[in-house]
Amino acid sequence: MKHLVCPWPLAYLFDNPLRRLLHNPEKILGAYVHPGMTVLDVGCGMGFFSLALARLVGKEGVVISVDLQQEMLQVLKKRAIRAGVADRLQTHQSSPEDLGLTARVDFILAFWMVHEVPDRAKLFRQLKPLLPKPGHLLIAEPKIHVSAEDFQETLDLAADEGWCQVGSVRVRFSRAAVLRVSPYSL
Ligand SMILES: C[S@@+](CC[C@H](N)C(=O)[O-])C[C@H]1O[C@@H](n2cnc3c(N)ncnc32)[C@H](O)[C@@H]1O
Repeated sequence: MKHLVCPWPLAYLFDNPLRRLLHNPEKILGAYVHPGMTVLDVGCGMGFFSLALARLVGKEGVVISVDLQQEMLQVLKKRAIRAGVADRLQTHQSSPEDLGLTARVDFILAFWMVHEVPDRAKLFRQLKPLLPKPGHLLIAEPKIHVSAEDFQETLDLAADEGWCQVGSVRVRFSRAAVLRVSPYSL
């Protein structure tokens, strides 16, 4: 599996209003995200899901949107202002080696991003302390880049880092799973 980071201008190809026909954020996330939650969108890109998360958590909630690329975050900030949700959305630029996060969150989304990370085990290790045990991590990976074997390898790496799969969700053109920190994990 190649670990190429999506160049930011390419994000306009899939992050556009028509995408809702394929990826309805409320359908994908609605069972896991509720008003008042603090949620993390890791590898948020231009924020197709961050903006939807901001609507789902409502005025009392917080969305932390993290990406490597400053250009993605700049577009997201402008979109958040236009959508009237900038008050509950924080952006954070991570480095390739380190997410640089300490916040505790109630839910994590990693949509079409894990395959871009060279050290997936380290990513799962870094996410673990951010999410208390009842919280969910939803991973979706694009079928075009991630074979069933690659996705299973990702789930196995997550399991080695103390995550267990507790569900799956249907996401078009994607392989997806819902994970939790294992109750037996230290
Ligand atoms: C294909 S885009 C998907 C964006 C968004 N999740 C979506 O579904 O529209 C993948 C994003 O993950 C980001 N990314 C890749 N590796 C990352 C890392 N190690 N830490 C944070 N973001 C990363 C890229 O910069 C890119 O914006």
